[in-house]
Amino acid sequence: MTISIGIIKETAPGERRVALDPPTVAKLAKAGHKIFVESGAGTEAGHPDDSWGDAEIVADAKSLAGQCQVLLCVRRPSPDVLAALPKDALVIGALAPYSDFEDLAAAAEAGTSMISMELVPRITRAQAMDILSSQATVAGYKAVIIAADIAPRLFPMLTTAAGTLRPAKAVVIGAGVAGLQAIATARRLGAQVEAYDIRAAAREQVESLGAKMIDTGVDAESEGGYARELTDDERAQQAEALAKHLARADIVISTAAIPGRPAPKIITEAMVKDMQPGSVIIDIAAETGGNCELTQAGEVVNVGGVLVAGPTNLPSKAPLHASEMYAKNVSNLLALMIKDGELVVDTEDEVIAGCLLSHAGAVVHEKFA
Ligand code: NAI
Repeated sequence: MTISIGIIKETAPGERRVALDPPTVAKLAKAGHKIFVESGAGTEAGHPDDSWGDAEIVADAKSLAGQCQVLLCVRRPSPDVLAALPKDALVIGALAPYSDFEDLAAAAEAGTSMISMELVPRITRAQAMDILSSQATVAGYKAVIIAADIAPRLFPMLTTAAGTLRPAKAVVIGAGVAGLQAIATARRLGAQVEAYDIRAAAREQVESLGAKMIDTGVDAESEGGYARELTDDERAQQAEALAKHLARADIVISTAAIPGRPAPKIITEAMVKDMQPGSVIIDIAAETGGNCELTQAGEVVNVGGVLVAGPTNLPSKAPLHASEMYAKNVSNLLALMIKDGELVVDTEDEVIAGCLLSHAGAVVHEKFA
């Protein structure tokens, strides 16, 4: 059986990614499915309308939605696009269920099944569907590239006829997926890298990338390998130890997050004021409030010569590769739901149950029901 699958042009400001790319579309088309692409959907990611092979280009999102059993997107579609979907359609994307849930609830009531990619369980079987990891990889890389761009110094040690330049000292805070990619990227550019995470388990990964682990004596690993919130005493102990390393750093990349909560404040105003003029902080956590007290999302603030940058939507700054990985994640998840050419939402499947927000006219996810 043929399933009609559509991708729309993202409309969020600054969003340059697209939910599928031409290779994933070709694979779905080869399997016999009908693909619709909204005109311009891939332009920013390097895929103009004539690059989509057998897919049909549709002029606008609403008429596309009206023809689709499955709608794939990066960000949540607008309420009118959701309303244009046929009853029982399936939407898969990063639907941001933690904000403005009413719009999603309305679509759920209208019979739309929705899968929120951020909720895919982080278990081994679902790694190839994990957008948090794939997009954090891009973010960690780009953060270092931005640091290299706005810093007044070069990263590598250079021995030249005009003298010897010492290598940049970088500190990466939070050695999760983004942090590890930041470490690897900063090392490739020639920086000396130290890293810090409250999960002691991160040490092995940090060291395997050639960076040095900063020891603050605090270990706060909790359920599922994630970080928990620190006690006041632990926070003070962490701050004291970290401050010394930050005062010597030229580049700081902070990536620390606690799932579903505002980012922990780790870099205080006093720590920034102790840093050397000309140093740079890139706060990847800016969108969830920032790891630095002085971060302003979307801005670069100059604090006595220290640049504090809070870039947002870093994956969108490398839209081709971010979309390539996103497309793989989404199409792998979709593949779980296609059985003998038919769309089957198997609510008993652990991966699907973990990220299925709504089905058969109701909100079904335990966190949101
Ligand atoms: P995240 O984006 O939630 O957090 C980033 C990092 O910040 C984490 O390493 C966390 O420990 C650290 N952090 C939080 N609060 C901190 C604080 N106050 N000070 C210093 N560091 C702090 O994490 P991410 O990158 O999404 O992944 C976290 C863990 O989950 C990693 O160990 C990762 O390898 C693991 N993971 C497992 C997967 C699986 O399939 N089994 C898939 C993806 C990630």
